[in-house]
Amino acid sequence: MTQYPKRLIEVDLPIKRISAHARREKSIIHRHISTLHIWWARRPLAACRAVICAALWPDPVDENCPQSFRDLATECINNFAKKAIAINSDFSKNCSTEIWNKWQVLAKPENQLNSHNPQHWNILRNSLLDFIADFANWDNSTQPDYLETSRNLTQAAHEALGGIPGTKPLVVDPFAGGGSIPLEALRVGADAFASDINPVAVLLNKVVLEYIPKYGQTLADEVRKWGQWVKEEAEKELAQFYPKDADGSTPIAYLWARTIICEGPGCGAEVPLMRSLYLCKKSNRNIGLRIIPKPEEKRVDFEIIEKHKNKWVVSDNPEIEVKNPSFDGTVKRGSATCPCCGYTTPVASVRIQLKARQGGANDARLFCVVTNKVKIQGRFYRLPNEQDLEAVKKASLELKKRVNQHTGELSLIPDEPTPPQGRSFRLESYGIDKFGDLFTYRQALALTTLVKLVKR
Ligand SMILES: C[S@@+](CC[C@H](N)C(=O)[O-])C[C@H]1O[C@@H](n2cnc3c(N)ncnc32)[C@H](O)[C@@H]1O
Repeated sequence: MTQYPKRLIEVDLPIKRISAHARREKSIIHRHISTLHIWWARRPLAACRAVICAALWPDPVDENCPQSFRDLATECINNFAKKAIAINSDFSKNCSTEIWNKWQVLAKPENQLNSHNPQHWNILRNSLLDFIADFANWDNSTQPDYLETSRNLTQAAHEALGGIPGTKPLVVDPFAGGGSIPLEALRVGADAFASDINPVAVLLNKVVLEYIPKYGQTLADEVRKWGQWVKEEAEKELAQFYPKDADGSTPIAYLWARTIICEGPGCGAEVPLMRSLYLCKKSNRNIGLRIIPKPEEKRVDFEIIEKHKNKWVVSDNPEIEVKNPSFDGTVKRGSATCPCCGYTTPVASVRIQLKARQGGANDARLFCVVTNKVKIQGRFYRLPNEQDLEAVKKASLELKKRVNQHTGELSLIPDEPTPPQGRSFRLESYGIDKFGDLFTYRQALALTTLVKLVKR
């Protein structure tokens, strides 16, 4: 029976060099399939590749390392060194200088490794670790000689450790997340099994591990084609609920604040719940809101202000200077201070009010619309107008119509209960009991339209 030999990862790993490649990968990996959906805590491919190789390949110095692995690994490394320094090889470009010099030495016939010389086992171990360090480089991840060598080493290790010839070792990742580990396992010649408790992660893994190998470029082409179709159909159906401005600008964001009624004695004004009044805070651009209390109308108005050469002025009328504006919002630790009377409605009352209105998403106050202009770069901020409010009203009527006409086992808008929350913020304390309560009617209309089109 084969005695368990230590794997390379149990004796050493060139962590510093692998980490450098992992850091670089973050800044250069664009348009790769793993960026299709950024999974939280996704591990860099560089680190996964290195860890998998070092976990699959035994340490040649270990007394229990099968001689057949030493023989094949020696052959792989000798050949790799020769390829690395061959004329026309582009290895030197993506190979660290230190390792490149080592390959140059090893490539010479008199320096080639001999698997039966125990003094060479240590050099073999270091060469495998050097190979792993350079293979972690993103630019080498699809280089045919690195791929072939890594796959030969994986197969040699598998068979030397008792794997049935012709089969591959299996890398199992029960918490696969974005799929980095199974993806890299396939790259270095292993089979992979991935699972996850989260269905989004399962889909990501299915795409990377099953659909892409099966359908290749066709999948990318079809996703692009049907994605475009969904976008165009959704635009046609939803355009009337998201109208463009008269000057052709396109609204790209609507900023809403949930509201409460001030409980100050004799007040009763509507208080928009806002943490900050800044709209844009950059070194070269500062835009904010000024609240104008209207106690007699029991509400507030807004004015957009911006910084012009160290002076704050009213955006629509730069002649008017605003001295020492405050950008503190109305909310602090959940309690709300009324701009009309100054009374602070305590957090418990804020919650009671919002709870009675399922979180208050649908009678929130629209306070700003962010737009893109036709030929001018950047974002623009304006106050809402009649057309904006009319579109919101129209959307809610359309949604009600669709809900009434909807047939099917599941409700049109998800009515499953929201899960229990952590200690800091609890949806249920605000009456957001169902998933549907998280969205305004117009958002629900847009989302259910997208779902319908994707299904179609
Ligand atoms: C740190 S992430 C894994 C990241 C992954 N290695 C990558 O590179 O993308 C941990 C994963 O474990 C999953 N998970 C947590 N508890 C689980 C459980 N009981 N069963 C299966 N998966 C679980 C989470 O959904 C999450 O995707």
